[in-house]
Amino acid sequence: MNSKYTPLFESFNLGKELEVKNRLVMAPMTNFSSNPDGTVSDAEVNYYERRSSGVSMVITACTYVTANGKGFHGEFGGDKDELIPSLSRLASAIKAKGAKAILQIFHGGREVPPELVNGDVVSASNIPSEGEGKAVPRPLSEKEIESIILDFGETTRRAIEAGFDGVEIHGANGYLLQQFFSPHSNRREDKWGGSLEKRLTFPLAVVDEVKKAVAEHAKGPFIVGYRFSPEEPETPGITMDDTLALIDGLVTKDLDYLHVSLMDFWSKARRGAEVDRPRIEIIKERIGDQVPIIGVGSIYTADDAIKALQSGVPLIALGREIIIDPEWVQKVEQGREAEIVTKINKDNQQQLDIPDPLWQAIIHSPGWFPGIG
Ligand SMILES: Cc1cc2nc3c(=O)[nH]c(=O)nc-3n(C[C@H](O)[C@H](O)[C@H](O)COP(=O)(O)O)c2cc1C
Repeated sequence: MNSKYTPLFESFNLGKELEVKNRLVMAPMTNFSSNPDGTVSDAEVNYYERRSSGVSMVITACTYVTANGKGFHGEFGGDKDELIPSLSRLASAIKAKGAKAILQIFHGGREVPPELVNGDVVSASNIPSEGEGKAVPRPLSEKEIESIILDFGETTRRAIEAGFDGVEIHGANGYLLQQFFSPHSNRREDKWGGSLEKRLTFPLAVVDEVKKAVAEHAKGPFIVGYRFSPEEPETPGITMDDTLALIDGLVTKDLDYLHVSLMDFWSKARRGAEVDRPRIEIIKERIGDQVPIIGVGSIYTADDAIKALQSGVPLIALGREIIIDPEWVQKVEQGREAEIVTKINKDNQQQLDIPDPLWQAIIHSPGWFPGIG
């Protein structure tokens, strides 16, 4: 290995008792390839096995905790006990290749395709997301909110029973947790909305419920991470200042990591706090050493990764890159970083073990993956 990359391969203590072998993580990525009954498919398991040998942790695609939170066609489920064997198959496949297996748990809220939920699209309030033809969601009742919070706990229990090493609470990318935190989608005036503080109630209650499930069911160390998106473009919408308030709430919760969802690791704040500074720097400054951070976004080369690590963020996630080059980590480890592939090759689907639905999504979405113009 080129010695300048050795810091990427230093182990790291996550949580009190759990050590991960290096600083590289597979980012959570939906693959649209699970079976219609919510079980994981063979192609999906192969895809994960292929990508679990180098990284220290694999964060899975999101799984829905409640049936009407299913956000994607071909998403696997975590909402009932019958699915524990399926979850277990996924956890075992990842762990057998040497990575820690983290299940990303989620509810899609207003972003759920209506046909997946019999048209019953729900959210904090009846505000659709911006864009053509978006469904007008039905505001959740207080009873339903409480039931979804319990569902996050139940899915965590299933993750424990299935052998996962942890869960990541998906509070990012505009889905239900973020919808409750956002002044765009949350216009409630009960205890779940109104002030900034009240908009935090739901996400923090989910964290508490997940931690409770871990305390009750985990027999050893079990990771709990939280993923959030730092800003929303909409007005009203989450600002960097709001994000810092969310962070202040999250750092009190004894989480094992916070994962900052960005498409570009170095992207700058658009408003609030200090514009023109990379969001990750502002966030790192606020969190300090209270909770480890995972950073992500357009890390394509070994130099990109080491530069990101030098920002003080201890863990770096690879998303599209590890789809494009499943041996990304091993190549750096073996001094072959010059061989890393950074653009998708349209002839390589089979060679890359990419399931059909994911492949179709990639090649029909110009600009999403490098190499698809
Ligand atoms: C195919 C695909 C599916 C994704 N699905 C999820 C998901 O299920 N949960 C999530 O939090 N982020 C998801 N993301 C976002 C990634 O985790 C990541 O934040 C983003 O792709 C930027 O990182 P990258 O430049 O390394 O790809 C997805 C991204 C891609 C490309």
